[in-house]
Amino acid sequence: MPFALLYTSHNQIPPAALDEELAKVLEVSLTYNKANAITGALVSTPTRFAQVLEGPRGAVMAVMQRIEADPRHRDIAIVASEMIPQRSFPRWSLAHIGMCAQLDDAMAKLSDASSRPPLPGDVSALWKLMSELAEAQFNADPSRST
Ligand SMILES: Cc1cc2nc3c(=O)[nH]c(=O)nc-3n(C[C@H](O)[C@H](O)[C@H](O)COP(=O)(O)O)c2cc1C
Repeated sequence: MPFALLYTSHNQIPPAALDEELAKVLEVSLTYNKANAITGALVSTPTRFAQVLEGPRGAVMAVMQRIEADPRHRDIAIVASEMIPQRSFPRWSLAHIGMCAQLDDAMAKLSDASSRPPLPGDVSALWKLMSELAEAQFNADPSRST
C-alpha cells in the first residue's frame, strides 16, 4: 500500500523570482520523484504552497526531509499522513496546479487553522480538489503529464 502526506506552507519566494524558482523546483522534482517512485501534486499561490506526495513510505519521508529544509517556504504543516489504498496522482511525478479561487479558499481554511488541528473534512476537500484539477489538466492535454 502506498503512503501519502499532504502539507501546507508559506511561500517565501519574492514575487519577481517566483516563475524562475518554481521552474527550478519542478525540474528537480520531476527527476527525483520519478527516480524514487514518488507521485504527487504541488499547488502554488503567491503566498502559499500545498503539496501531496505519495509512494513508498521511506521515499516519501526522505523527500519530505529535503523539502522541509528548503528556505523557499516556511511554516510547513503536515496536515495528513497515512497509508492509502491507491494513489491519487498516478499519472504525475509532480503535477503543478496553479491558483484558482476554489483552491485558494480550500488552502486558506487549512492555514487559518494554525492554532487548532485542521478539520479532517477540510484536509480531504483540498486533497480531492487537487486530484480533480490534476485529472482535468491531464484530460485537457495528456502530453503535459509528468
Ligand atoms: C514547495 C516545494 C516543493 C518541492 N517539492 C519537491 C519534490 O516533490 N521533489 C523534490 O525532489 N524536490 C522538491 N523540492 C525541492 C527540494 O526542496 C530541494 O531543493 C531539492 O530536492 C534539492 O535538494 P538538495 O539541494 O538537498 O539536493 C521542493 C521545494 C519546494 C520549495
